[in-house]
Amino acid sequence: MNDTIRLLKNHRSIRKFKDVPVTGEQLSHILDAAQMASTSSNMQAYSVIGVTDPDKKALLAEYSRNEFVRDSAIFLVWCADLSRIQLACEMRGGNVNVPGTVEHLLVATVDTALAAQNAAIAAESMGLGIVYIGGIRNSPREVSDLLKLPRLMYPVFGMCVGVPDHQPGIKPRQPRAAVYHENEYSDEGVAEALAEYDETMRRYYLERTGGKRDATWTQEMEAKMRQPGRLHMRQFLHDRGFTLE
Ligand SMILES: Cc1cc2nc3c(=O)[nH]c(=O)nc-3n(C[C@H](O)[C@H](O)[C@H](O)COP(=O)(O)O)c2cc1C
Repeated sequence: MNDTIRLLKNHRSIRKFKDVPVTGEQLSHILDAAQMASTSSNMQAYSVIGVTDPDKKALLAEYSRNEFVRDSAIFLVWCADLSRIQLACEMRGGNVNVPGTVEHLLVATVDTALAAQNAAIAAESMGLGIVYIGGIRNSPREVSDLLKLPRLMYPVFGMCVGVPDHQPGIKPRQPRAAVYHENEYSDEGVAEALAEYDETMRRYYLERTGGKRDATWTQEMEAKMRQPGRLHMRQFLHDRGFTLE
């Protein structure tokens, strides 16, 4: 065990923030860490918009249906971005149009997530709290208009950052046997591991909600899969230049 691993194992999402700003120095460390993430072919295919304007944060809270977004000190909107690569092609004087292929969408989205997670760890290492907000994809057009995102760019998720005003319990993860396989995949023991996890999560929710929430992980996943959400994303991505061939 070392300090880095201790920090990683201490993660919990924070959804209540003190009315204290993130300093310029803290933000600079967060962005330095984000930019040092590995990136596919050095494409660095992401951009991040830091939102501190209270009116814009309020709109983003509404669009994402996550009320606490307005209380974050800064709301970082992490965007997959091929527009800089389009610019690079134009700077070379050719007439190459960046293809919005499935592969490019994956590259840009993975780059975005890796940078964001580096930022999250940097923030937590300075005592700040974070929570990712996939909820911005409830209203991706409104978010894109508000932030003036160009073509070949889309908002992947937001991230609230601020000084924590609560300390929720650490959420248990699945048993190792469900997740890790040696040399080849095997489904042996996975169902048993999930049954064990269901019991762990039931206890966790009961404790965290004072007995109000009696749910298991498999229950939650089944309910979630019955109603696939955000079916607007396909058309939205297409309209932004991710034609997905
Ligand atoms: C891409 C992504 C999107 C998320 N979106 C939301 C969100 O919109 N609202 C929210 O309250 N939490 C959101 N979360 C937080 C997850 O619910 C949380 O990470 C998960 O339940 C595990 O809990 P923990 O982070 O406290 O360990 C998101 C997490 C990720 C990685």
